[in-house]
Amino acid sequence: MVKVLFVCLGNICRSPAAEAIMNKFIENQNLKDKIICDSAGTSAYHVGEKADHRMRKVAKEKSYQIEGLSRQFILFDLEKFDYIIAMDDQNYKDILSLSHNNQYREKVFRLKEFCKDKSITEVPDPYYQGIDGFTSVINILEDGCHGLLEKIKKDKAL
Ligand code: 4NP
Repeated sequence: MVKVLFVCLGNICRSPAAEAIMNKFIENQNLKDKIICDSAGTSAYHVGEKADHRMRKVAKEKSYQIEGLSRQFILFDLEKFDYIIAMDDQNYKDILSLSHNNQYREKVFRLKEFCKDKSITEVPDPYYQGIDGFTSVINILEDGCHGLLEKIKKDKAL
């Protein structure tokens, strides 16, 4: 089983949406028995909470089902997961700062690396934005998750 973890700050907007989108793509390609996804936040601000209602709304409009409750990213995640996907540069730094000698560096990526649209610099934090910010995040996540799934299929010969 290939294990993928999406990571943002609060685990209530970007990473749970990424998880839902990736799960849909995995299902569409009949890879449910090969790849599993999870998500986490670098902060504990919203631990135990459902995803933000605005993100759930825009995701649902595109038939993505966001499930699960916020949890904080922990050191064991670096060991457990095969692909750890940061939404922005700060998440990337915070993820790697949990391990002392950068031994997990090769498993940690930024989602933008997999986007076809090379003008994307990060998945922006939509929390203090209007509904358009959430829609824009979904579009970026779809682009990045497509590229990520292609990479995983290639890496693992799926
Ligand atoms: P996320 O969005 O990292 O995409 O889940 C945020 C959620 C909450 C906060 C910031 C970003 N916050 O500051 O509470």
